[in-house]
Amino acid sequence: MPKTDFNDRLLSLGLARVSEAAALASARLIGRGDEKAADQAAVNAMRDQLNLLDIAGTVVIGEGERDEAPMLYIGEEVGTGKGPEVDIALDPLEGTTLTAKDMPNALTVIAMGPRGSMLHAPDVYMEKLAIGPGYRTGVVTMDMSPAERVNALAAAKGCSTEDITVCVLERPRHDQMIEQLRSTGCAIRLITDGDVAGVIHCAEAAKTGIDMYMGLGGAPEGVLAAAALKCMGGQMFGRLTFRNDDEKGRAAKAGITNLDRVYTRDDMVTEDVIFAATGVTDGSILAGIRREPGFLTAETILMRSKTGSVRRMVYRNPV
Ligand code: FBP
Repeated sequence: MPKTDFNDRLLSLGLARVSEAAALASARLIGRGDEKAADQAAVNAMRDQLNLLDIAGTVVIGEGERDEAPMLYIGEEVGTGKGPEVDIALDPLEGTTLTAKDMPNALTVIAMGPRGSMLHAPDVYMEKLAIGPGYRTGVVTMDMSPAERVNALAAAKGCSTEDITVCVLERPRHDQMIEQLRSTGCAIRLITDGDVAGVIHCAEAAKTGIDMYMGLGGAPEGVLAAAALKCMGGQMFGRLTFRNDDEKGRAAKAGITNLDRVYTRDDMVTEDVIFAATGVTDGSILAGIRREPGFLTAETILMRSKTGSVRRMVYRNPV
């Protein structure tokens, strides 16, 4: 089949529909204490919508390996097969626990780019570091200690370390890092889940109050966050971390040979991409699904890295 160009402009609205559909499907499961059901509803809807798009798509970041995930597994082919060859990174419900408990910042997330444009990150942890746009390259690095990063960012921003807010996933593995951050006097916004949103927060610091994200979270979520920052601006670094040989094997299977590599945002997402996310529960970036008699309303952010355009769309859907 002849290779068709990745027409990001044309495809972007379709991508927003995919993301909206997943959020609307999980709406009835917000606050019902059933993570699996909420995730399944989002997966089914996302897959159905994705299969309507005229693309020859391959899921590169998905619900898991083929033997673990029956739908939207890594390597699954999606779309009608009639359009351009694209790679897709997705998380139909980023924050399953947040959704089940009706806590802030649950999102549906999807990114699309030309074939070969996104790191095939295995399902292991990634050490992440992100800041928003407007800083010189390398103002903070993976080699710096957490305290050094806060000092460097405060100097670059022209403020006191006390005026810096760092977002961190609340996990025992971050206790030491948090202690070090506290020694600088900075503020820490602890989140219980959802580090894609955590990273995106840095790109709109004036609105969200978050200047920097750091810590260990899922590697697939790292690639999704890198895709978002590629559109919005900002720097991101990621390094895979492995707890055992099985996890190293996952990396090998994904074609990764240098296990210590520090990936920049543009190493994780090498070409122009489009990105869509829809709010499931209320958050600092997006409003969650609103329920009114007869209607559901969803807010979506739709972005293209080629133009840096960020579009917010509100969709009201009769039910
Ligand atoms: P789910 O939506 O799959 O539950 O993931 C939520 C999440 O908080 C991610 O945002 C984050 O990267 C990862 O889990 C952190 O993993 P862990 O809970 O093992 O610390």
